[in-house]
Amino acid sequence: MNLEEKIIDESIQGKPLMVDSKNTAIKTKKMFLESYGCAMNFSDSEIVASILMDNGYSTTLNYEEADIIFVNTCAIRDNAEQKVRNRLNDFKRVKQKNPKALVGVLGCMAERLKSQFLEQEKLVDIVVGPDSYRDLPNLIEEAEDGHKAINVILSKEETYADLTPVRLGTNGVTAYISIMRGCDNMCSFCVVPFTRGRERSRDPESIVAEAKDLVEKGYKEVTLLGQNVDSYLYSGGGLKKETLTEEQKKLATNFAQLLERVALVSPDLRIRFSTSHPKDMGDDVLEVIAKHENICKYIHLPVQSGNSRILEAMNRGYTREWYLNRIAAINKIIPECGISTDIITGFCTETEEEHQDTLSLLREVKYDYAFLFMYNERPKTLAERKFKDDVPDAIKSRRQSEIVAIQRENSAIKTKAGVGKVHKVLIEGFSKKSDDMFMGRNTQNTVIVFPKLNYKKGDYVNVLVTSCTSSTMIGEIVSH
Ligand code: SAH
Ligand code: SF4
Ligand code: F3S
Repeated sequence: MNLEEKIIDESIQGKPLMVDSKNTAIKTKKMFLESYGCAMNFSDSEIVASILMDNGYSTTLNYEEADIIFVNTCAIRDNAEQKVRNRLNDFKRVKQKNPKALVGVLGCMAERLKSQFLEQEKLVDIVVGPDSYRDLPNLIEEAEDGHKAINVILSKEETYADLTPVRLGTNGVTAYISIMRGCDNMCSFCVVPFTRGRERSRDPESIVAEAKDLVEKGYKEVTLLGQNVDSYLYSGGGLKKETLTEEQKKLATNFAQLLERVALVSPDLRIRFSTSHPKDMGDDVLEVIAKHENICKYIHLPVQSGNSRILEAMNRGYTREWYLNRIAAINKIIPECGISTDIITGFCTETEEEHQDTLSLLREVKYDYAFLFMYNERPKTLAERKFKDDVPDAIKSRRQSEIVAIQRENSAIKTKAGVGKVHKVLIEGFSKKSDDMFMGRNTQNTVIVFPKLNYKKGDYVNVLVTSCTSSTMIGEIVSH
């Protein structure tokens, strides 16, 4: 992937997923399951697969032979929804061939549009929001009886903690573990609080058990997932975070403690996590990262804008100064930590001067990567109700390209700085270009490509980096 692809809004790719055929031998009905959007959605698809495989389904990568097609959708920006609508058109062919085949829409777009989906898209039989996957077997039955089936109830409790995800499209080395659901932040541009409901944390015992199980199955890296992992707090006994007294909070498990517990599962298991929120990321988390070799030295810390007035309009809960203080804390407590970010250009009322503040922040922080988005107004959000989407697309796009130019330079400097050094790499699989080359990542999350020699997927190796492109390092194994 070249840098341009990496940093521009191309993160929403549809990906069909399936499990090893050995697990599917005795199943009868076939499901095709395709996921869009963020890692939380991909992780949810593994829960969906688990529920459906317990109900007699196997997976297929060919939607034309499927009895049921599920698309797990994203609503973050309009283009994410457009991709899904186009995809639904492709699925029409299946219904023409097999009128009994069912089409189900899952995830954030299902939650956002609810029954409207069934009205707008005649092809769709089932609509299910992110908290209702346990109801899928009933909903399928209803749809098989010829009724349209829908469940978009959001829950304050559901964490699917007791379900063992069925790993889809897996490389057998890296896996996601969902540690919380929903989001309580109400950033003014964001649809997620409406599609995923209230924030709730999953029982740490079940998270640690899942990590142990993955280690036993040979996995070497887990990524702990939540929209704001730093606000993770589990107190047990069905107690809700917002009702806890200060005393109860002290007894509860916070993110720093959870991270440490997962790190102690095995020194051979790498831990990553996403997403950190600048307003909640405390030094305690940074200290735990610094203390454990197996917690990766990489933090994705979305800034969104470098201007405090815009940050306030976005309802992000921090200022430019606060954010830069968090960056300084990372650099002090975890020297050589990889840092990446998300930036929105052209948020409502953003002036040229305020955009310049984002450029100066980029120059100051020198991110390893940045994911860039043009502001896209989403129905029902605070920004849609309060502000006018008044920055023309051409200006949003020009501002974005100015950010690209700076970020490209920063990424190149960061990647070059790794040349001549030895990096510990976890081998994830073959490189895209050649079966004689492996790819893996260093602790900072930079992709490194090298000749495979006699090593195998899942091995840790030390790679001397000898050259690089703008965002990938190239090298050779010197030891393990
Ligand atoms: N929970 C994460 C982000 C989830 S969405 C966090 O708070 O950082 C991923 C990214 O999509 C956001 O960081 C933001 O940069 C972008 N995004 C969200 N809503 C958007 C919108 N309406 N228009 C453009 N970009 C948006
Ligand atoms: Fe959206 Fe903000 Fe929650 Fe992230 S923290 S999911 S941007 S509301
Ligand atoms: Fe998209 Fe939902 Fe994730 S809106 S980004 S799939 S939480």
